Amino acid sequence: MQNHRTFLSLALLSAALLAISAPAQTDPGIPHLRQQGTAKQLIVDGKPFLIVSGELSNNAATSLESLKPVWPKLVEANLNTVLAGISWAQFEPKEGEFNYTQVDGVIEQARRNHLHLVLLWFGCWKNGTSSYAPYWVKKDYLRFPRIQINDGKTVSISGPVETLSTFSDATRDADAAAFGALMRHIKKVDGTQHTVLMMQVENEVGVLRDSRDRSPAANRAFAGEVPAGLMNYLESHKDNLIPEFREVWANNGYKKSGTWEEVFGPGKPASLELPIQTTASYLGLIRHEGDWLKLTWSSDEIFMAWNYSRFLEKVIQAGKAGYEIPMYVNTWLQSRDEAWPGTYPSGGPLPEVHDIWRAGAPDLDILAPDIHIEYFDDVCARYSRSGNPLFIPETSINPANALMAVGRYNTIGFSPFGVDTVRPVTAELAATYSILNQLSPLILAHQGSDSITAVRMNPGDAPRQIKLGNYTLLLTYTGRNVHLPVQAKGGVATSPRFTASDSESTTPLVAAAILIATGPDEYYFAGGGMRIDFTPNTPGPPNAGLGDVEEGKFIDGKWVVTRRIAGDDDGQGEILTLAPDTILRVTLYRFP
Ligand code: DGJ
Repeated sequence: MQNHRTFLSLALLSAALLAISAPAQTDPGIPHLRQQGTAKQLIVDGKPFLIVSGELSNNAATSLESLKPVWPKLVEANLNTVLAGISWAQFEPKEGEFNYTQVDGVIEQARRNHLHLVLLWFGCWKNGTSSYAPYWVKKDYLRFPRIQINDGKTVSISGPVETLSTFSDATRDADAAAFGALMRHIKKVDGTQHTVLMMQVENEVGVLRDSRDRSPAANRAFAGEVPAGLMNYLESHKDNLIPEFREVWANNGYKKSGTWEEVFGPGKPASLELPIQTTASYLGLIRHEGDWLKLTWSSDEIFMAWNYSRFLEKVIQAGKAGYEIPMYVNTWLQSRDEAWPGTYPSGGPLPEVHDIWRAGAPDLDILAPDIHIEYFDDVCARYSRSGNPLFIPETSINPANALMAVGRYNTIGFSPFGVDTVRPVTAELAATYSILNQLSPLILAHQGSDSITAVRMNPGDAPRQIKLGNYTLLLTYTGRNVHLPVQAKGGVATSPRFTASDSESTTPLVAAAILIATGPDEYYFAGGGMRIDFTPNTPGPPNAGLGDVEEGKFIDGKWVVTRRIAGDDDGQGEILTLAPDTILRVTLYRFP
């Protein structure tokens, strides 16, 4: 244990040395972000905090009464935080009159259940359109103009285009005033207790059904020069731009000025009606299968990204003037069948336009992906570039993804969508969340360094080698329905045995684990479904033996051994298997 303590204190010390202090805050306990090594962490009440959470379905928090029975389920599922929507229409039913009942009630109910909150500001935009705008905004289309598509149309082949336009100071100021009032109030009721950790500003912004707004104001701006503010940002960040964006700019000769189309390439011809889905018949099979991640009509999307980010910067500034906690925007991502801007919201913070968002909204803390698509790890990697902290506000219920996001991609939080009704939390996720909660002090101490990683293995995957600390780990898939091994390598059964139910199970489950090197010869492993073999990777005796193998729990941050493992349960000292939903502490020794 001594080794572990020394290693951990070194990790904490180096974390402290690496830490870049947060901007001046009146109260250092107020949630803020802080750099640790290569990771950015959420700091709450002076300590790093891992958001282990779920997002409620859209309207769950609009009724305090119907929310009451939801909380026990969330507690039972081991969430420590809940993401809940706050509707502008409900918050400001009459212009300038704010109704705090809902937000106060949600905060109060969360506190009673010892849960934190991330609140989602459903203001001007929700899934690209404007369904949560108040009635007084919706009906005044002269004061609060809507986007237009193809020559002034407000209806496309795929439906109406009833969406507030970014090209209106009145709309922006109304949204900013409401959000500012909300944040001032949250500061008043929560500025010392810190139940509310972060704010999502709007929801999945961007233009749907066309690649850009084509209202008269938008067309004038699009025909004009790219603003100097954006050009200067790109010039001064030229060496560190996101490669996909850089390629677009490079293809147009890195122009330093010009119209949007001169600098970033052609937009979509206004006359071309956008299909609902970009199937292989539109894209061609090769593009549909492999090349769909490229930007199409790049200037349209870059133009919209700039205009949404400039609009949101004002909303964020108003919010932060009221109460400065971390704020993020979430993204409806591109996918194979939604590959063209407009089939997904054009101008949202997709990876290809992160640089535009950084330039347009410098007060925005996090660009966050809603990962409802299959390429989870790739999205995590693309949202971890240029110092962007990864936070996953929406995704599916997938325990392996939770472990990967935390251990491999340093996420500050993981949050499946619709945990109250749409997809109630499963026992598997609850078990993984229990592990994450227990392990979070250790995880947070190691995030941002090379002493922590995570691995996912599917049935049929070849064994994989990972160098971690002083050993190289050979990981072999065993699956989740696994019994511990009984014989040593020389015996008949070299791989773990399976339970009867395993052969009955129709879907072999993915194995996933967080792996942490906590000392020169010490590891913690959490998750399950794989065998782990060790080879030393530093000078000295070439063989590794299993020393102590302990199964246990962290209770109040202290390791408590529940079972010591040797004999039949570790192949007579030769086979280490991480059974599902377990935490192991393992020490190693070396011999000639
Ligand atoms: C993504 C949105 O951000 C959520 O609010 C919700 O509408 C889900 N889609 C529904 O799947």
